[in-house]
Amino acid sequence: MAMNESNLPPLSLYVHLPWCVVKCPYCDFNSHKAGSSPPLGQYVAAIKADIAIESERAAGRRVQTIFLGGGTPSFFDASQIGEILEAAHADLNVAVDAEITMEANPGTLECGELASYRSAGVNRLSLGAQSFDTDSLRALGRIHGVDDIYAAVNEAQSAGFNSINIDLMYGLPGQTAAMALADLGKATELEPQHISHYQLTIEPNTVFYSRTPEDMPDDDTSFEMQEACHHHLRDAGYGQYEISAFAKPGYECRHNLNYWTFGDYLAVGAGAHGKVTDEQGTIRRYEKPAHPLAFIKAPKNSPSNVEARKLHDDDILFEYMLNVLRLPQGFTRTMFEQRTGLEFEALLERLGECRDKGLLREATDESWQPTELGLRFLNDLQAQFLPTRSVV
Ligand SMILES: C[S@@+](CC[C@H](N)C(=O)[O-])C[C@H]1O[C@@H](n2cnc3c(N)ncnc32)[C@H](O)[C@@H]1O
Ligand code: SF4
Repeated sequence: MAMNESNLPPLSLYVHLPWCVVKCPYCDFNSHKAGSSPPLGQYVAAIKADIAIESERAAGRRVQTIFLGGGTPSFFDASQIGEILEAAHADLNVAVDAEITMEANPGTLECGELASYRSAGVNRLSLGAQSFDTDSLRALGRIHGVDDIYAAVNEAQSAGFNSINIDLMYGLPGQTAAMALADLGKATELEPQHISHYQLTIEPNTVFYSRTPEDMPDDDTSFEMQEACHHHLRDAGYGQYEISAFAKPGYECRHNLNYWTFGDYLAVGAGAHGKVTDEQGTIRRYEKPAHPLAFIKAPKNSPSNVEARKLHDDDILFEYMLNVLRLPQGFTRTMFEQRTGLEFEALLERLGECRDKGLLREATDESWQPTELGLRFLNDLQAQFLPTRSVV
């Protein structure tokens, strides 16, 4: 089937800004300690050149959302963020009502700066609060204190941000279920429109992996925290629309929802990953050089910067399920067929097996949802859809 703007998936733009004041001991993102003089100006110039490359790939399609992620985007000042957004508006067809999110670390915000980010075009702010407990923030190696979170939220609200996310983590060293709930209570009291509530995971290649804190909560305690916190979020008016994402009605993150529903996205910046469907319905993936200095140096038309891989049908199916199973509302036959270009029948046998294991439920003839068990053991559920050709 020939694809055009009306039946192609929505298109988003991700921009990666990789530096942080320090590298947090639990973090496996492509983020780097800034040192004394990171080449911010050169990086912004490379980002602008990269946006020009991506404009060819976008071929005039409308960009519905932009996400400035990191690292710590708020490490860049508002004029630099403004330059990046101006380049996006100049080279791409950015929708007038585009959601434009920027991640910020409460420890990098100077007084008055949030109003400047707002004037530069950012209309959604995502604050990495992590915890409202001083000892927990210290155990996580964060550069901010509890007061910085309150100052950032107050300032964001006065600067006119009416779509604010707070990132919180639970399952922290030494944390009890009561402490996790108290943390969350402080976040909901501030009435942000969105809360991302992540369980701290110990990732390979992090300081916490080689030196795991001795007082990490066990699995049962973490589950108890999750249950209590999810109840609290529901009671406070936040609907769960993804395994870790909770929003007041109408404030779901459109950018992340586009990832989770297998939409398309352009990749700009060090290590950024993109996925684009062409007019023939072929889905391709690509990524940018991972290290910030390699990204700055990469000749802009080098194969590593522009080459895209065509996805095999088995990978399309797995990647679709990997994403969409994160959503409690699940997916429909129509969504699956539109986004993947595959026959729904290819899935039926495995869907049935998951239903028999209690991991999925058939909500109607045409729609499937993960059960509570499925969401709790999401990795097991996702693994049921691994490409069969990798099984020997
Ligand atoms: C790129 S960071 C957000 C912005 C900024 N870098 C900061 O940390 O304030 C995205 C979020 O991922 C979460 N995160 C990072 N590492 C994690 C881990 N190991 N386990 C769970 N959540 C993690 C944190 O809540 C963090 O705010
Ligand atoms: S500030 Fe955010 S991105 Fe940077 S190291 Fe810490 S968690 Fe990772």
